[in-house]
Amino acid sequence: MSSPFRHLFSPVHIGKVEIKNRIAMVSMGVYSPRLTRPDGSYSREGADYYIARAKGGVGLIFTGLITITDMGPGEPFPMTNLASYTENQKYLADGIHEHGAKIFVQLTALSGRSAEGLHEPAPSALPNFWDPTKQNPEMTRAEIKEYIHNFAETAYASQLAGFDGVEIHAVHEGYLLDQFTIKATNRRQDEYGGSLENRLRFPCEVIRAIKDRCGADFPVSLRYSVKSYMKGFNRGALPGEEFVEFGRDYEESRQAARMFQEAGCDLLNCDNGSYDAWYWSHPPTYMPKACNLADAAFIKKAVDIPVACAGKFDDPELADQAISEGRIDLMGLGRPLLADPDIANKFLEGRLEDIRPCICCHQGCLSRIFLLEDISCAVNPACGREASYALGQAKVKKKVLVVGGGLGGMEAARVSALKGHTVELFEKTGTLGGVFVSASAPDFKDDDKRLLAWYRKQIADLGITVNLGVEVGVGQVEKGLYDEIFVATGAVERRLSLPGLNDDNSTYAIEAFQKGDLPGQNMVVIGGGLTGCEIAYDLARRGKAVTILEMTDTILNVPGLSAANYNMLVELLEYHQVAVMTAARLKGFKDGRAEVVKTIKNFPNVAGRAKLSCAVGPEGRDVTLYLPADHFVVSIGYLPNNDLYRRLASEKKVHLIGDAHAPANVMNAIWQAYEAAKDI
Ligand SMILES: Cc1cc2nc3c(=O)[nH]c(=O)nc-3n(C[C@H](O)[C@H](O)[C@H](O)COP(=O)(O)O)c2cc1C
Ligand code: SF4
Repeated sequence: MSSPFRHLFSPVHIGKVEIKNRIAMVSMGVYSPRLTRPDGSYSREGADYYIARAKGGVGLIFTGLITITDMGPGEPFPMTNLASYTENQKYLADGIHEHGAKIFVQLTALSGRSAEGLHEPAPSALPNFWDPTKQNPEMTRAEIKEYIHNFAETAYASQLAGFDGVEIHAVHEGYLLDQFTIKATNRRQDEYGGSLENRLRFPCEVIRAIKDRCGADFPVSLRYSVKSYMKGFNRGALPGEEFVEFGRDYEESRQAARMFQEAGCDLLNCDNGSYDAWYWSHPPTYMPKACNLADAAFIKKAVDIPVACAGKFDDPELADQAISEGRIDLMGLGRPLLADPDIANKFLEGRLEDIRPCICCHQGCLSRIFLLEDISCAVNPACGREASYALGQAKVKKKVLVVGGGLGGMEAARVSALKGHTVELFEKTGTLGGVFVSASAPDFKDDDKRLLAWYRKQIADLGITVNLGVEVGVGQVEKGLYDEIFVATGAVERRLSLPGLNDDNSTYAIEAFQKGDLPGQNMVVIGGGLTGCEIAYDLARRGKAVTILEMTDTILNVPGLSAANYNMLVELLEYHQVAVMTAARLKGFKDGRAEVVKTIKNFPNVAGRAKLSCAVGPEGRDVTLYLPADHFVVSIGYLPNNDLYRRLASEKKVHLIGDAHAPANVMNAIWQAYEAAKDI
């Protein structure tokens, strides 16, 4: 088939292995007892998750990381039984090959100081990333030798299973091998520390050991962060920020890349960042598109081996152009393939508007695996459970009513229609999308806008009858015209009534998102959840002086919010000088001043010692402060709008879904709708 993206669909070689096109699924760890086995191999369901992406057209798949270190009882570890690992992995390798794709296994030395705990050794004793008051211990030379041996043996077992290559994880993202290569995180005095050559010795020995065991022709890829973007421990550097690099800088990166090539590396699979700057490796919505492309292209100039690039890089036109110009060789896709397993085939066919976009929320993927739940996707509930969540045709075709055209309502309508039911959707406003229309208004929410456009197109293509501007009443529902009814009536904003606050000097969150700019210079945002903080960021970028008031002790205490998203938003608020007051509540507004009561508490400081010179008791002590204020944004959450549902309680086949059930997030709305509709 001729594609609009000729270069993207041209073959490329990694070592001697030919890949049919330039689209690679980059590694995403699955950490799940359902998707993996104790011997480190993938279960049938785990393998089927990858095979679905091969069927969807990608040329090369990197598995999620598989550990070469023993992490304790019950943790997947191929070295416990390499023979069974090999046997079990064959199903995956064969399944990928059936679709003409290739597969590399990613093997990891894990995390060092980036581990959530002190059990993993680091190059030197180093402050733990998650708790910098404590240190991970220094790795012994015997441990280094053991790791190298395990890398080679697991790579060989993977080769026997039919894998086409291996990827070493990772001189990237601040993992153990990355820490070895960086001066600031490697203070060793032996041959593994000191000069750049010494600091690269460990990963280079891993490359050579794999080549020795598997043969020179067995490709070895290296996951590689071109630049660390670190200002110090636990301090990332934002895009465009001026800073002195604490981690790997361009010059050292150029030299390191050449040395890896000389050691036998066949592919540099590039991104940027470190746990300390996690938003480069795991770009949230606030990160620019293709954020790592320029740096991957910089490395490409230093080496003769192919270079791949990932990171919010789902634009086939840009990828095609970058490949044609020789800036990179492969387009790396991670999350876009969770959101839409068929993305490569849709690129091939030029059906870009049919791609369900990743919205960079991390709710269904990164956050879930760190909570030890199966990998999935907020916008694609079938991800990771392709068979059990597949949508077959319903045996009995029904008449379905959907009340409410927000994300939950549209998903229920879409899934019902895909199952062959006749669907009618009613939305009381003049447009589909619900609260998501406003929430996606800021310029850093373009993927949200794409998701809305995707839903609207699917609804139209599926022939769903949509009635806009019509509010559905009980009588209409109870006429008995419908076999199944989905009530997706959304939520309403919590209101706030305080002395001095009125319609002229305060705006509620949904309207604030819609308007973007608001009158006045001194802005007070009431509520430090995700919405409040995003509005504060948006206002601060417009040059306003912004203060966030949060009643509880922390901002952004949002269930499922990834540290990548959290840290970036916190750093953006700091960068734009947004003042954050926690344990603080507004009492009223008078003469241009907000009266704020702040509760002082004796939290331990970062060193675990008293923060106050004198303890104040568990309830704390209230102090009253006055802030200059021109305008308030009220963002204090939502209440379910379930009036219709409550009045329909006698109806049997009524499903209450999304925010109307319990206000939460995109994932909640879409998953509830999918799960309810897939079984009707
Ligand atoms: C759930 C999840 C798990 C990941 N696990 C790994 C991993 O095991 N190894 C790795 O090298 N990168 C891992 N990554 C990083 C991805 O490979 C990729 O670089 C990142 O998601 C940015 O690319 P994207 O914007 O296309 O998703 C993971 C990312 C996600 C979202
Ligand atoms: S959960 Fe969110 S970030 Fe992860 S793949 Fe899905 S849409 Fe993208």
